[in-house]
Amino acid sequence: MSLSPEQFRTAAQQYGTPLYVYDAAELDAALARVRAAFGDARAYYAMKANPNLTLLRHLHARGVGFECVSAGELARAAHIGAAGDRILVNGPAKTPGEYATGAELGATFILDREEEVTLLPPASRALVRVNPALNVSTHDHLATGAAGSKFGVTLEQAPRVLDALRAAGHTALGLHVHIGSAIRDAHDFTAAFHRLGDLRAHTGPLDVLDAGGGWGLGADLHGIAREARAAAATFGAHLWVEPGRYLVAQAGTLLTRVVGTKRTGRNFVLVDAGMTELLRPMLYGATHPVTPLWDRGGTDTWDLAGPACESGDLLARDLTLPDPQPGDLLAIHEAGAYGAAMSSNYLTRPRPAEVLHDAGTWTVIRQRETPQDIWRMEENV
Ligand code: LLP
Repeated sequence: MSLSPEQFRTAAQQYGTPLYVYDAAELDAALARVRAAFGDARAYYAMKANPNLTLLRHLHARGVGFECVSAGELARAAHIGAAGDRILVNGPAKTPGEYATGAELGATFILDREEEVTLLPPASRALVRVNPALNVSTHDHLATGAAGSKFGVTLEQAPRVLDALRAAGHTALGLHVHIGSAIRDAHDFTAAFHRLGDLRAHTGPLDVLDAGGGWGLGADLHGIAREARAAAATFGAHLWVEPGRYLVAQAGTLLTRVVGTKRTGRNFVLVDAGMTELLRPMLYGATHPVTPLWDRGGTDTWDLAGPACESGDLLARDLTLPDPQPGDLLAIHEAGAYGAAMSSNYLTRPRPAEVLHDAGTWTVIRQRETPQDIWRMEENV
């Protein structure tokens, strides 16, 4: 969090609230931490975390590639000029159009099931996603490597799928694993990488091991990197990684204004942002640090409630705040990943503007929507 309360107040004053505020210095700092830990491993940013074109261009200029999981994400990658070995095409249910676009861009595919061997465009480069059948320490909805999850092929199937790829004239680059998101315990990664490493006897050497992303913000990145490198070395492979949240979460803050307060047995601060701007607390029980941007005496314990007509529309619980008054500003941190990306127009709420602070200058990188923007596709149809 390198932007100051004063800078947050300035941005809110100038661009209104709710507002997503990004800090380029923080984005660069996160990228530097990833590079310090993972060395020369190739990084593919999982753009689902935040697909804003300006952020993509920022990362593209710094040599980062992109992991894409939809036609729309591929279109974004192409739009900013990414191509070839800077793009991964992933997803459990790729469409014919996504294979075709991936091939046009010269992208590498991540196979999620054996049948895809016959669906890939001719002479594709592909990795095989393996499900290591592990329970990991994160919310159930964020765990992707558990037995019975919809992702990847089983450990038993993986060597056969690599063979099938080669037999079909594709380049079988290697293996891919991604066990989930917001995982803080490095041991979960260690366990997954060991399970993949055990496949070495059946696969022989490989060109690439893609260790995915999923690193929680407090995770021991160097520990994870050490284990990932060791697993790659088992195969004599280059290491690739796919950070999403880790790169952008701390670079983003959601600014919201107090509308009023209410005491009903619990104390509520009612604010102008909610589940439509930050779904994670409601969807995953995620907690985001919140700081009040005012100074006043008197503290009490408050829940932060959004404007939606849904009881679950709470952004935080049990915050200690000094006497909130209408117009006061709150900064909701770690909102750069899966904040704007998962925002919605529910209740015909226009999406907030997004602004970037870079080298002392504020730039609007996405305009605030209007109600007309929302219903445009419903008129003159
Ligand atoms: N690679 C693959 C194959 C993935 O599926 C994902 C995320 C990533 C990389 C990046 O994971 P990250 O480093 O961001 O944890 N909406 C949820 C997160 C869903 C993540 C889906 N896959 C949230 O708000 O926490």
